[in-house]
Amino acid sequence: MTEDSFDGGARLVEQVAAATGADPAHHRLLHARGAWAAGEFTPSGRAAAVFTAPATPATARFSSTLGGPGGHDGDPGDHGLAVRIGDLDLVMFTLPVFFVRTGAAMAEFLRATNSPDPSAVPAFLERHPEAATALELAQQARPAAGFTGLTYHSVHAYGLTDGARRVRWARLSWRPQRPTEPLNPEEAHSRPGDYLSLGLAAELPASLDLVAQLPAPHDEVYDPTRLWSSEHTVPLGTLTLTGTEPPATEPGFDPLRLPRGVAAPLDELAADRSRVYAAARHRRA
Ligand code: HEM
Repeated sequence: MTEDSFDGGARLVEQVAAATGADPAHHRLLHARGAWAAGEFTPSGRAAAVFTAPATPATARFSSTLGGPGGHDGDPGDHGLAVRIGDLDLVMFTLPVFFVRTGAAMAEFLRATNSPDPSAVPAFLERHPEAATALELAQQARPAAGFTGLTYHSVHAYGLTDGARRVRWARLSWRPQRPTEPLNPEEAHSRPGDYLSLGLAAELPASLDLVAQLPAPHDEVYDPTRLWSSEHTVPLGTLTLTGTEPPATEPGFDPLRLPRGVAAPLDELAADRSRVYAAARHRRA
């Protein structure tokens, strides 16, 4: 990472902190509430060459995006799943698309959604109509019953090298083997604020399948704000989580930490995320 890109990440950390009121010295600025899980990833042996390795230990962190450490898991907001499998980090969340295309637009988005001014979000949407799809999906989301029953999405397309050494661009998702129905908001709010983290141990063992979604001819491969129409998916493997012991050393998740055979997303958002996560960790250290 160059000094310039690191400074860009640090600037974004301060902008996100200012927009959300979060304390960057002590907590993750987003996804502050969460819980660790440990297990193993077993590749399907199909598709991309990188997913043919033997079963590999995996470290996962589930999280709730909004509200800081004192927020409530039943409040509106998406959930995250970050997983480290060998040299691969997958840092995904529950919406299939993202709100914006760059870190700068994300800071603007957070300022608008945290503003008391009721005209702030409509004004933001005028400037960023690309945010409408994710916002609409986020507004439909209902409280989760458990972290392991949700589907998580990469939103970016990664370049997967197949057995014939061809690069296929694909979005990745974790699909739960035991999907859960959402809770009604009253039931969720009768539980403790971090009920999803508290309930994780009781959900285990749990398995989620990693699938690659291949684009249809007109799907926008490099735009994380656009839904894809394609239903063509390829199974890449299965993550089986068995314990909730936190790792001895927390992985510093980075959406651009990728093994040979997986090419980085070509959208600007992935590079901006990589910078801001490194700078956020540095700020917390
Ligand atoms: C420019 C857009 C984005 C910004 C500025 C941003 C910012 C952040 C920040 C500051 C953190 C806390 C990092 C730390 O302190 O360790 C974080 C964590 C996280 N973000 Fe993002 N994020 C963005 C986009 C996304 C997207 C598109 C996804 C999902 C596809 C996502 C999923 C997550 C997850 C799962 C975590 C928690 C990681 C962990 O458990 O350590 N973020 N994000």
